[in-house]
Amino acid sequence: MITKRDLVSINDLSNEEIKEIFRLADESYQIVKRQTRSNIFSGKIMATLFYEPSTRTRFSFEAAMLKLGGGVISTESAKHFSSAIKGESLEDTIRIIGGYVDIIVLRHYELGAAKKASEISPVPIINAGDGPGEHPTQAILDLYTIKKEFGDINDFKIAMIGDLLYGRTIHSLIHLFKLCKNIKVFLVSPEELRLPEEYKSFLKDQGIEFYETDLLGKMIPHVDILYVTRIQKERFTSQLLYDRVKNSFLINSESIRQLEKKSIIMHPLPRVNEIAREIDSDSRAAYFRQAQNGLYIRMAILQWILGNFIAGSG
Ligand code: NCD
Repeated sequence: MITKRDLVSINDLSNEEIKEIFRLADESYQIVKRQTRSNIFSGKIMATLFYEPSTRTRFSFEAAMLKLGGGVISTESAKHFSSAIKGESLEDTIRIIGGYVDIIVLRHYELGAAKKASEISPVPIINAGDGPGEHPTQAILDLYTIKKEFGDINDFKIAMIGDLLYGRTIHSLIHLFKLCKNIKVFLVSPEELRLPEEYKSFLKDQGIEFYETDLLGKMIPHVDILYVTRIQKERFTSQLLYDRVKNSFLINSESIRQLEKKSIIMHPLPRVNEIAREIDSDSRAAYFRQAQNGLYIRMAILQWILGNFIAGSG
């Protein structure tokens, strides 16, 4: 019997498997560039079950499946348009949908929801974000972007900026740093939105040098990557606290004056007020290239999980 592979957390992947996903992403890029359509997933169906809003993650997963010849069924807002509104549990929904499709991409507002789903699902579960927990496919595309921008995943200094407490893309990316050598991490956030202890312990265990600060300005001339994040308004229980921290950091032409020419600015998007549109045309603004890489990485992840590979890929 072949055991089912889920992708709930970055910890589900070995370093070798992540490198294999990068290789598959390079091939997927070629497929897209040549405007060819692969049929490796002919007859297979993916369900995207999203209980929270999404643009990039859902559309790129769906486009990825279609590019590989598979089919997609989807609910745009499972919280309102599935039987959840009638009180059905996530477990029951997963059990039922798992009988109709070959793979489920799940985004849910509860920490641990993807893990719970993977334990009862008959088909693979991909975690597309579980509340303030993890967002592994975003982190993989983030590191892939770093590799494409710099040609390597080692020897860089990164400032992770914004909501480090609730930002699930931050949490997964930190776990992914297990692959990187000789890196330095600056954790830049308001006091109230500091990175949770478990992730700091992880960095310590990996021997990764890190510093916490609430001052961005001083960092800018010294980093290769500004990884900016949105303050996760929907996770706050106090409007007062949100109002206090919501505009903590703004990246604009003035603030990046001292950023090195070879450095880049990343953001998982959506942005709210963190990055001014005036810098979109700056070659260092990598966030749209990053979002585009999401397509290739998700094509790669689907191939890796479903065990079907583009013919001739070696
Ligand atoms: C992120 C998310 O959903 O966690 N978005 C994304 O998938 N690119 C970031 C965010 O919502 O701030």
